[in-house]
Amino acid sequence: MFYSDELVEEIRSKNDIVDVVSRYVKIQKKGNSYFGLCPFHNEKSPSFSVSPNKQMFYCFGCGAGGNVYTFVMKYENYTFQEAMKLLADKAGVALPEVEYSEEAKKAQNKRNLLLEINKEAAKYFYYQLRAKQGENGMNYLKGRQLSDETMQKFGLGYANMSADDLCLYLKKKGYEDQLIIEAGLGTHDEKRGLHDKFWNRVMFPISDVNHRVIGFGGRVMGDAKPKYLNSPETSIFDKSRNLYGLNHARSSRRPYIILCEGYMDVISMHQAGFDCAVASLGTAFTSGQATLLKRYDKDIILAYDSDGAGTNAALRAIEILREVDLVGKVLNLKPHKDPDEFIKAEGMEAFEKRIAEAENSFFFEVRILSEKYRLDDPEEKTRFLTEVAKKILNFSEDVKRDSYIDAISDKYNVRNESLKKLVREYAAKAGDVQTAYKVKSGIQSKPNPEENKKKPQKLFLTYLVDHPKLYSKVKKYVSEDDFTEDIYKQVARRLFEDLGNGIVNPAGIINMFDDEEAHKEVSALFNTELAYLDTVQEEEKAFHDILYALKKNSLDYHNSMLGSDVEALAKVIKGKKDLEEISKIHISLED
Ligand code: CTP
Ligand code: MN
Repeated sequence: MFYSDELVEEIRSKNDIVDVVSRYVKIQKKGNSYFGLCPFHNEKSPSFSVSPNKQMFYCFGCGAGGNVYTFVMKYENYTFQEAMKLLADKAGVALPEVEYSEEAKKAQNKRNLLLEINKEAAKYFYYQLRAKQGENGMNYLKGRQLSDETMQKFGLGYANMSADDLCLYLKKKGYEDQLIIEAGLGTHDEKRGLHDKFWNRVMFPISDVNHRVIGFGGRVMGDAKPKYLNSPETSIFDKSRNLYGLNHARSSRRPYIILCEGYMDVISMHQAGFDCAVASLGTAFTSGQATLLKRYDKDIILAYDSDGAGTNAALRAIEILREVDLVGKVLNLKPHKDPDEFIKAEGMEAFEKRIAEAENSFFFEVRILSEKYRLDDPEEKTRFLTEVAKKILNFSEDVKRDSYIDAISDKYNVRNESLKKLVREYAAKAGDVQTAYKVKSGIQSKPNPEENKKKPQKLFLTYLVDHPKLYSKVKKYVSEDDFTEDIYKQVARRLFEDLGNGIVNPAGIINMFDDEEAHKEVSALFNTELAYLDTVQEEEKAFHDILYALKKNSLDYHNSMLGSDVEALAKVIKGKKDLEEISKIHISLED
């Protein structure tokens, strides 16, 4: 982290979390907290909570949680530094020049230079397109029915006929040959020296989610090859972790994201009002891009070309989406080739209708598979169904598997029982009796013993945050040593220190950690669901039980460490004494 802890905390405390979150999510007051629909997963009833007292958010559905920084980072897909900047601006706090290490400075410098030079080039291309010398480019784009507004939204430009005007321009601005080449804007050879890489092409700037230009795709205006030239990968341009159009699509109100193959498809869909369209960057869809999409937790509608290549690409994309648990659906564009052509030929309403009819991706896969078989031949049909049975086996939930068996047997005209039997047989053959149709023992699966040990630790910390006065009553019994997870220990140490000084600041404690996973875990610690109890007596008993369980668990733990930890013996002796005392005392929740 580059900023001082004090500054991080100052900016956090000046940004009320209810205020910040309500700019993005509709929340309503209920009791001590605010509730709304979680922006980080799909849900129908609100389980996303924001606590003004704790200055934290926590979703009881998906477990997302943290303080105001976590929220902005997660929602905006910002780095910590970017979230810090946004919140500092909002609170009117000036950020000092940050102190980088030499190495960080160099890397940051290079990134900044690459961002700058791409921005310069984008401005240059943009200007050329709208000037006299850009007439051909402009005519080409107009011919493809793009409006001025669309061209502006996507920052479209034009690379001139002349061989080195961009390079000369960039050099005049002070950029070195080496950087121009590294950014992929120029190339060098013996005959011509440094010259432009893009030449007589319409230019599509590629932006990251925060609208910063990180590279270009350049299209020829006729049928010459290659149709597109793309910038090479650089430290700012990772083709497997960015998507064309996502800078706009991220703020779309539509409940799905459309994934397609081409820059032109994205642009044409946005122009028609489908502002949720994105495309991969001249390469096949990657798992890094799937992870990026996962953040938005929306269904993904695949709008790939309707030819054989497009179908194969869609099949691969479906698998990649499935790996990150995203639901994919497939758009039927026939008889047209791609979204751009479809919209031109049939218009936005017809497209909207196709979206509503998008095919479940499993049905799509099975249908494509079925085309390889002659289903009127019983032998071939059996082979086909065996393949389908194999695929059905991949669903780990019984309910889902059964539903697919029902649906597929309907669609392909086979008795439900027969298909079920095939799945079961195949499962046995594959030795996969674990997941499919395991004989049920009737015994409830054992609750996870690790979780059981963590539970009292979490409940205890939540209790202390909700009832800080309890701390003085129990502090002689508890310490960070009673917590078995490393992260719990760190949190407990800091929380006890704060409480000792009369401070309750769970959101500040979150700042101790850098990564999102840790924020999530710490938020869970402070937001464990407490049983709803009617009377004070019951509550007091509950807290007493939690304290007892915490100490008992800690005693067991230190007992098990007797062989390896020299301090364990002392801890065991104290632990036993504490337990004995605790069993005798009464702890009042009141003063
Ligand atoms: N592509 C590429 N290099 C090529 C051809 C294609 O990088 N030589 C990438 C581009 O990202 C392109 C995508 O593959 O957008 C899809 O290709 P294609 O369907 O041929 O292009 P469109 O974007 O649909 O362009 P157009 O409609 O102008 O043909
Ligand atoms: Mn195309």
